[in-house]
Amino acid sequence: MPAISSTIYFVSGANRGLGLSLVSCILDTHETAFVYAGAREPEKSDALKALEIKYPGRMSIIKYVAADSTANAAFAKAVEERHGHLDTVIANAGIWNTTANVAEVGVAAMEEHFHVNVMGTIVLFQSVQDLLKKSAAPRFITISTVVSCIGGIMVTLPVGSVAYGASKAALNWVTRKIHFENEWLTAFPLSPRPIATDMLHYSISADTSGWMKKWVELNPDAPSVADVAVTVLQIVDESTREKDGGEFRHSEGKEIPW
Ligand SMILES: NC(=O)c1ccc[n+]([C@@H]2O[C@H](COP(=O)([O-])OP(=O)(O)OC[C@H]3O[C@@H](n4cnc5c(N)ncnc54)[C@H](OP(=O)(O)O)[C@@H]3O)[C@@H](O)[C@H]2O)c1
Repeated sequence: MPAISSTIYFVSGANRGLGLSLVSCILDTHETAFVYAGAREPEKSDALKALEIKYPGRMSIIKYVAADSTANAAFAKAVEERHGHLDTVIANAGIWNTTANVAEVGVAAMEEHFHVNVMGTIVLFQSVQDLLKKSAAPRFITISTVVSCIGGIMVTLPVGSVAYGASKAALNWVTRKIHFENEWLTAFPLSPRPIATDMLHYSISADTSGWMKKWVELNPDAPSVADVAVTVLQIVDESTREKDGGEFRHSEGKEIPW
């Protein structure tokens, strides 16, 4: 009997929010897939441990700390030993923890956002590129946001988003550059629609302009994080270098400006 080929995924920031829902969705809908779920503190990730029990032998919780070269190299070695390759990497881990405006934002806050949102993705790519090269259909997708759009609405609003938006704009540049530097790979930034996670709750409560709250009130029927994960995963799974490589994708399928 021929072996059933299984897709090997890696999802960073899998402890909660969109990352956790993506891991759950992959396991639930892709019977033969295996998922490496990257979390900062695997031993404390109760939600991921529950998935491990629900889907025995189909996932591994591994230590992922953004831009930590040692931790990244360690999990790449673990993947190499167990599966020898990776098919799909979803660079999802990210932060938005200040709503300071340009006039007041601190150096440390800017550096932290660039460290996690940009350097984290660069170090991740460096660590997994050899594993991806051994895949028949390698994908490296970064999770971005409309807040990053230099030609979009968010930059025009008084929401304090310079640390988050500027770092995600840099992430888009890096992802597009990865596309052009690697002809063998499907790579593109993907912006999910706003989703009710800790990050969105933080941005609403910390935003003194009131615009984030207004947005939520205008969108009372926003889908759940689980529903957004289904859409994001479908876009990832159906992506090709020819169709999506180096483009900026949105989970609702609409065109968004860089
Ligand atoms: N929520 C939205 O409306 C929205 C919209 C557009 C784009 N996004 C993007 O979607 C992605 C997921 O966001 P979310 O809403 O799910 O956010 P979230 O609930 O705040 O989760 C963020 C995840 O990133 C991880 N993380 C943070 N700092 C890290 C670090 N230094 N090293 C490793 N992992 C780290 C967190 O780990 P811990 O649990 O250990 O803290 C957590 O698992 C982000 O890239 C975000 O920018 C979100």
